[in-house]
Amino acid sequence: MNANSMSRPKSPLHFEDQILEQGDMISKKLHLLSVQRFPPNARKTLRSFSLAEVAVYLGVSQSTLKKLHLDGKGPSPQTSSSGRRSYTAEQMIELREYLDQHGRSESRMYVPHRRPGEKLQIIAVVNFKGGSGKTTSAAHLSQYLALTGHRVLAIDLDPQASMSSLHGFQPEFDQVASIYDAIRYDGEKKPVSEIIRPTNFPGLDIVPANLELQEFEYDTPLAMSNKTSNEGKTFFTRISRALQEVDDRYDVVVIDCPPQLGYLTITALTAATSVLITIHPQMLDVMSMGQFLLMLGGILKPIRAAGAEVNLEWYRYLITRYEPTDVPQAQMVGFMSTMFHEFMLTNQMLKSTAISDAGITKQTLYEVEKAAITRSTYERAIESMDAVNAEIASLIHASWGR
Ligand SMILES: Nc1ncnc2c1ncn2[C@@H]1O[C@H](COP(=O)(O)OP(=O)(O)OP(=O)(O)O)[C@@H](O)[C@H]1O
Ligand SMILES: [Mg+2]
Repeated sequence: MNANSMSRPKSPLHFEDQILEQGDMISKKLHLLSVQRFPPNARKTLRSFSLAEVAVYLGVSQSTLKKLHLDGKGPSPQTSSSGRRSYTAEQMIELREYLDQHGRSESRMYVPHRRPGEKLQIIAVVNFKGGSGKTTSAAHLSQYLALTGHRVLAIDLDPQASMSSLHGFQPEFDQVASIYDAIRYDGEKKPVSEIIRPTNFPGLDIVPANLELQEFEYDTPLAMSNKTSNEGKTFFTRISRALQEVDDRYDVVVIDCPPQLGYLTITALTAATSVLITIHPQMLDVMSMGQFLLMLGGILKPIRAAGAEVNLEWYRYLITRYEPTDVPQAQMVGFMSTMFHEFMLTNQMLKSTAISDAGITKQTLYEVEKAAITRSTYERAIESMDAVNAEIASLIHASWGR
């Protein structure tokens, strides 16, 4: 200890002043780091996909794709100096269209868009436990569905905007509008089509989030107490009503909910046709999820009585960040499976450094350059992620009666 600090008089802690100053320091420093790494207005790009990946996403053999190319049919892939073929995500969509027009199979549809009578699927990803993997699951699911040919709208409903920043939208310095503008109670309300932004994945659009979204939590009780208007009393219909405008543009909507059981989450759940509850299989997380389910049930009952339609086609628990070699975690998964049976997804999302590594550059497994990650680590992670997402895609298709 030096003489200076010893003689310094003990000053009272000025908590408010200090946290304001420290908050300011953090945001300035992070802003600087971000600007260096992701210059404002930098547009995200998307890598190309290997022949093997394209074969998996299209559900055809690699030899079929090679033959198409050799016959000069369909889009032409880029060929590397070592002879490896790869396609852009746009070309994958063109390949689907080509196969539907020229394929031999009448029954098989490569472009999986909704047909008449098939309802828009709205999937809410929830759990009020922070860090349970909601955003990771919602972002990867949205991108997987787009890569497999669906028209997808991702909605970031968390004021912290993690899913937006994974898609290159940084509410700290990009002026992004959020779904708040489509569900607010005052005269500033806008159609959702004006808020939707394209992403670097063809087939995937996003409604980004910003801090303003939080206002919905304060506005709603005020609107409910308004004697001259019914808007507040039917708050839970606001997202579903906003989405009606774009219903025919999409096949699936994926909503990343905030880690709270507030009005935003309730409004997403009442708009949803299906629900994914993400859960990390550890005692405290499972206990907290139990509380979440009790609270949610307690809230949804009176809302249903007030006219909300919570008509789910399906809901499933999704195990996230799973380490099967960790005995307590494996026991917890066993314990949940005996309780929830068919309500658990059969596939689990494994914990992987590939996810956290990709996250450092604000990327997902579907967009990170594979060379950036140890091959075996990447393969293991993507296999687990694809299996989870393929299972969800088949639930979606089952809802359409396919
Ligand atoms: N399968 C995984 N393997 C490794 N890390 C993961 C995995 N899934 C998520 N993570 C990491 O765990 C952290 C929390 O995940 P995520 O942001 O998806 O959770 P969340 O439920 O959306 O959190 P919040 O409640 O704060 O919104 C992130 O840093 C993410 O990169
Ligand atoms: Mg999140």
